Amino acid sequence: MRYRGVAEIFSQISGIYDRFLSTATAGRIHSWQRELLSQMNPSGNWLDVGTGTGEVLRKLRDRYEGIRVGVDPAIGMLRIAKEKCGSCYFIQAVGESLPFKDGSFSNISLSLVFRHLQDKESFIEEAGRLLAEGGRVGIIDIGKFRGTPFLLFLMRTLLKPIGLLLFGKDKWDFFIHSVEESYSLEEIRSMFERKGFSLSYRSGRFFGVVQIAIFIKTA
Ligand SMILES: C[S@@+](CC[C@H](N)C(=O)[O-])C[C@H]1O[C@@H](n2cnc3c(N)ncnc32)[C@H](O)[C@@H]1O
Repeated sequence: MRYRGVAEIFSQISGIYDRFLSTATAGRIHSWQRELLSQMNPSGNWLDVGTGTGEVLRKLRDRYEGIRVGVDPAIGMLRIAKEKCGSCYFIQAVGESLPFKDGSFSNISLSLVFRHLQDKESFIEEAGRLLAEGGRVGIIDIGKFRGTPFLLFLMRTLLKPIGLLLFGKDKWDFFIHSVEESYSLEEIRSMFERKGFSLSYRSGRFFGVVQIAIFIKTA
């Protein structure tokens, strides 16, 4: 699916997104995002890629002094983000092609976004360009794990009626596909290492379904 299709899907669900995510993660998303924030650089400009409704930047609001910027292709998501964080900047863009000059940021976060990127290598190159040495990329995502086939089975059976009711068939199929597209932490790690990053922190949450990883730009 091309960027416009993905942006439409997320724009259409933007009104129910926060409630759905909180329910689907039993409220844990907030502690995962705080864990990610605690492992990033304490200062400098911050870019949140696939910012959605801006939750990561909102959580930073009171204690972070650098400029906070969120990008997302879904304009519906960005509207809600701006309501939540009036002092943050939001731009419609994708992670594979970021409209900023070299070395502009010290932190780049992606919360539940990495598996949606259509060209992961291009994103990592962009992150390398935008970060100064020592800059960090922090990722929260559903990782590929032993239970992935079971999760996919549930999405195709038990969870399907709820999914169809809330989102409709096209969007539910898209979410199933995005779980199929998930990577293991080792796969993500080798992609980053090839582009001059090293893994500095990792943790598994939600019985290992959710991975949190921080990479530092070393070269
Ligand atoms: C599951 S939501 C996560 C939103 C938010 N980061 C959070 O943690 O709640 C995925 C977001 O990624 C965005 N997205 C999809 N493809 C993208 C891309 N290629 N580049 C940047 N963002 C993308 C979607 O529009 C959507 O807002």
